[in-house]
Formats: sequence, C-alpha cells, structure tokens
Amino acid sequence: MNIVNRIDELRTMLTAEKTNGKTIGFVPTMGYLHEGHLSLIQAARKENEIVVISIFVNPLQFGPGEDFDQYPRDIERDETLAREAGADYLFYPTVVEMYGERPMATVTIHERTDCLCGKSRPGHFDGVATVLTKLFNIVVPTRAYFGLKDAQQVAVVEGLIRDFNFPIELVGVEIKREEDGLALSSRNINLTSDERTEAVHISKCLFKIEEAIASGIIPEVAVAEGRGYLQGHITGTIDYLEALSYPELKPITDVRETIIVAAAVQYSKVRLIDNVIITHEQPRG
Ligand code: PAJ
Repeated sequence: MNIVNRIDELRTMLTAEKTNGKTIGFVPTMGYLHEGHLSLIQAARKENEIVVISIFVNPLQFGPGEDFDQYPRDIERDETLAREAGADYLFYPTVVEMYGERPMATVTIHERTDCLCGKSRPGHFDGVATVLTKLFNIVVPTRAYFGLKDAQQVAVVEGLIRDFNFPIELVGVEIKREEDGLALSSRNINLTSDERTEAVHISKCLFKIEEAIASGIIPEVAVAEGRGYLQGHITGTIDYLEALSYPELKPITDVRETIIVAAAVQYSKVRLIDNVIITHEQPRG
C-alpha cells in the first residue's frame, strides 16, 4: 500500500493507473477505522482494480464547539487496518496541503440540509461537500463508497455528484453494527461506560419504529411511540427522532415511498446518529 501525503504525487500515481485502464474505487474517511469503514474498503476491493482510501479530519465540517480536537486519531493503526483490508493507496494530507492557509472557494448545498443533522449542525454539509469536491477532483474515482450510517450525507453526495457532473458512481453500503445493535462509529470510544451500555436503545428504538411502520402504523404515531421508549431508556438528550422521505428528506406524504427514520442523541462528549431506511416492495405486475 502506498501512503501519500501530497496532492500532486497522488494525482501523478493515479493518472498512471488510469492510463493503464484501471477502475478506481474510492473510500473517503476521517480515520480511526473500524469495521464499518473496512466494509466500504472491502466493497471497493470487490468492484474495482485499484482502491484508494483517504484519511482527513476535515476542519470545515466541524462547527464551533464541536469535537474537531477530540476527534480520535491513530494513523499507525489505521495504516495497518487499511493495508489488511486491501487498500492500494492511503491518501493522508495535512490541513495546509488541502486548504492552504484559508480556502477561497467552498461549496454550498441548498437542498436536503434543513433537517436532521443539517439543522443541528449548520454548515456541516457545506464542509463535507467542499472536501468531497476536492477529493473527487484529486482522485477522479470510477466509484465512491459511502456508508448508510450517514444516510443524509449519502443523500447530499448524490445531489453533489449529479449537480456537479462528477463522472462517479455512488455506492451506498449497509450500516455495520456491534453485536447489541449499536452502529459502529469512531466516536463510540468517547462514550462513558454507562452511556455505551444504554446506547443500545437507540437502535432498538429505530427497529421498533421500523416494525411498527411495517405493521401498518402511520409513521408519525410510530415515531411518537418510539420517542417515549427512547426517553424512558436513555439519559442522553434526543437531538432528533424523525421519519422523512428518502433521499429527498421531506415530510412523508405517501406511506408507500421510501422512508428514513433517523435519530441523533447527544451525550456528554459525543453525539451519536443512527437510522433505518424502509423500502416498500413494489407489487408484482
Ligand atoms: P467518517 O465518519 O470517517 O466515515 C467514513 C465513511 O464510513 C462514511 O461513508 C460513513 O458513512 C462510513 N461509516 C461510518 N460508520 C459506519 C458504519 N457503522 N457502517 C457503515 N459505514 C459506516 O463520513 C465521514 O467520515 C466524512 O464526512 C467524509 C465523507 C470522509 C468527509 O469528510
């Protein structure tokens, strides 16, 4: 595995790979890798000749008072894990390499961000879109892999790729969970042990809502019941618990459309997010 810190160096190396006609799968991350990230690398490994992973804790997507400084980092461990998962290139730039002293141009997202994490974290998705625009232009992958753990991010990236005409296929990958159901996250390490124990109720609550909706209960009622359950089982503060259409992220007008039920819970040092996406089988014609 090649470890590359400089943009021009990575470009030169990948241009040579593309000249040889190779397909490139790209997995952008902020590091502190876990099985969720590794499942993206494995998916990319299966479908492409070359796999590129980036590790960059992007300051532009953290708001004031958020956990940029506390965000866990361990590049040596990440190098080993990325190599074992089958990455060919690990791109690990510094903030100055990516942005210089201060970026002059940034990207603004106009849809799908006035709700869920976009509402609680103003500017977050502009920061995500800005770094991804740069990374997409640097790597120019055939396919880019994103986890559905961050389903709103996938919805935003879908719009970014479409609107900016990136010649990239977006691949969404299922959420990897701990045995008790907690969605894997680099941030889980910053939970206290009591918080870690009770955090299981976030996914439990989402699964209960999913079941209720599948059994015909209207989403609004199912979510209200789920909120009662969650409030009774956790000490963290519910930032949101909502059902919306997916990927549009609008209020549900037709129960047959694809629905996301998403939750965010604020703990002492960590904000956790999770979701379930409910698709309705088309009746056979
Ligand atoms: P990060 O949080 O490191 O996540 C990198 C990728 O791993 C994202 O696509 C995320 O959805 C996926 N991922 C995280 N936990 C997962 C899980 N439990 N199961 C499946 N996939 C999971 O998301 C970011 O970084 C950044 O916003 C980034 C896209 C790199 C832009 O800075």
